[in-house]
Amino acid sequence: MLIPRASLYLFLFYFIKFVFTYADDSDASLSIQLIRQKSPLEQHINSAKKLRNHGFNVDWIFKKPSNRTNDSVALYRYHDNEFYAKIIVGHPGQSMNVAFDTAWTLSWLISDQCPWTSIGCLYHNKYDHSKSSGYKKDGTPINIPEGSYNLSGFLSYDNFYIGHSNVTSQLFAEITNVPKSYIFSKIDGVLGLGLQTESDAYVPIFYNLLKQGKIKDPLFSIYLNRDAQSEHGGNIILGFIEYRHVHSKKDANNHTIYDPIKYLPLKAGAYWQFDLDGVYFNGDKDNTFFFCNESCTAISDTSGTSIYGPKDQVDKIHVAIKARQTWIGKYTVACETINKLPDMAFVLGGQNFTLKGRDYTIKMTWHSFTFCVSAFIPSDTNNMWVLGGAFLSEYYSIYDIGNKQIGFVKAA
Ligand SMILES: *[C@@H]1O[C@H](CO)[C@@H](O)[C@H](O)[C@H]1NC(C)=O
Ligand SMILES: *[C@@H]1O[C@H](CO)[C@@H](O)[C@H](O)[C@H]1NC(C)=O
Ligand SMILES: *[C@@H]1O[C@H](CO)[C@@H](O)[C@H](O)[C@H]1NC(C)=O
Ligand SMILES: *[C@@H]1O[C@H](CO)[C@@H](O)[C@H](O)[C@H]1NC(C)=O
Ligand SMILES: *[C@@H]1O[C@H](CO)[C@@H](O)[C@H](O)[C@H]1NC(C)=O
Ligand SMILES: *[C@@H]1O[C@H](CO)[C@@H](O)[C@H](O)[C@H]1NC(C)=O
Ligand SMILES: *[C@@H]1O[C@H](CO)[C@@H](O)[C@H](O)[C@H]1NC(C)=O
Repeated sequence: MLIPRASLYLFLFYFIKFVFTYADDSDASLSIQLIRQKSPLEQHINSAKKLRNHGFNVDWIFKKPSNRTNDSVALYRYHDNEFYAKIIVGHPGQSMNVAFDTAWTLSWLISDQCPWTSIGCLYHNKYDHSKSSGYKKDGTPINIPEGSYNLSGFLSYDNFYIGHSNVTSQLFAEITNVPKSYIFSKIDGVLGLGLQTESDAYVPIFYNLLKQGKIKDPLFSIYLNRDAQSEHGGNIILGFIEYRHVHSKKDANNHTIYDPIKYLPLKAGAYWQFDLDGVYFNGDKDNTFFFCNESCTAISDTSGTSIYGPKDQVDKIHVAIKARQTWIGKYTVACETINKLPDMAFVLGGQNFTLKGRDYTIKMTWHSFTFCVSAFIPSDTNNMWVLGGAFLSEYYSIYDIGNKQIGFVKAA
């Protein structure tokens, strides 16, 4: 059996972090604190020194891997799940770390039935239905292609406890096979916050919270903390808009005036997808661009920090900011330049949503090394941008299921 030994050792040194949840005072609404998980790259880098002190050879981290470790390229592409929360499943409760993913509908958990030979399941909390009185069998097998891998398993029902609220008989997938790279992820599963569609009988967890009367208003909102050094990654706010996360100013009478929330109608489908009027990049004269002059769309993706865009467009931005591609597939820029990088803006509903250089780069440090990684990732999405954490940390987002719209406003 081929186990990447160094990866296993790295995993032993993961920090255990605590997640706190709290309920809002008002009824039927609830705010769950998320914590920020360092990206897999950062975890490697931060563990390297400790590992060296323990006599392990970790030089491979800084070298281009052989072709055999192509899997670890996929890891950064698929496992940039940087925000998660702790929830309880079943009775008696089993604690699981889950991502809240707006670009995904079906909720899933790693199953206790994942065989020990499946490396990606190692070092995770695993859901064991034989220990839960809330479990109800469905058993339908499922197979979800994820990149070049498959997530496979079967469907089950159980009760989920999120913050101080609970949902009974939620249908979800017990996953018995995950890609190897999941060994680097803290996440034991995903709660899908995608939209329910008419063609799909599946009821996502937020819709069940509404149906079972646990949440009054059919909306949730997501605040991501832009301070990457903070353990507090943000909040997912179920049922309301938390105005302390909305940018405001004081008027002449010292009254607080909140920035207006820009609402955009949703496209049909399971994604939180909306029209994107354009993308400005304001570099020097040779590097000023306007993309998406014909119809473009964007989706919100809370599962990671990256912003994905059409390859030709992202490539132009990377040339303009002098980014270099690293072996892990991400692009780095010289850290001393990040405060001088040009602004860029996504035009939504006729309004500019601007990001500065320090917003669209992510600074990582280890020892005397500092890396600045571009948040942009070129993809083959035709005329579509995926707005992840780098955008959502600057703009508080409101997911209004009742009115089929999404809202953005400068975060405070
Ligand atoms: C690795 O892959 C590259 C490009 O796919 C190829 O040129 C090279 O020969 C491969 N190296 C090994 C050791 O297989
Ligand atoms: C890595 O895997 C992908 C998909 O399996 C393949 O397209 C790509 O060429 C591989 N890269 C290397 C360097 O082997
Ligand atoms: C993924 O599942 C499909 C069937 O849906 C199968 O054809 C394919 O071989 C599977 N891929 C892997 C890597 O297991
Ligand atoms: C969960 O929800 C059900 C039905 O809404 C309720 O009866 C029960 O008391 C709740 N709490 C627990 C701990 O199960
Ligand atoms: C405005 O109100 C805040 C409290 O809300 C107070 O601390 C501050 O001193 C006031 N400023 C002025 C100019 O009145
Ligand atoms: C977008 O296209 C329209 C019509 O082709 C043109 O009038 C407009 O100037 C273009 N806008 C930008 C910013 O390039
Ligand atoms: C948005 O930003 C671009 C580039 O900085 C600017 O040309 C344009 O006028 C701005 N639009 C609005 C509505 O502010």
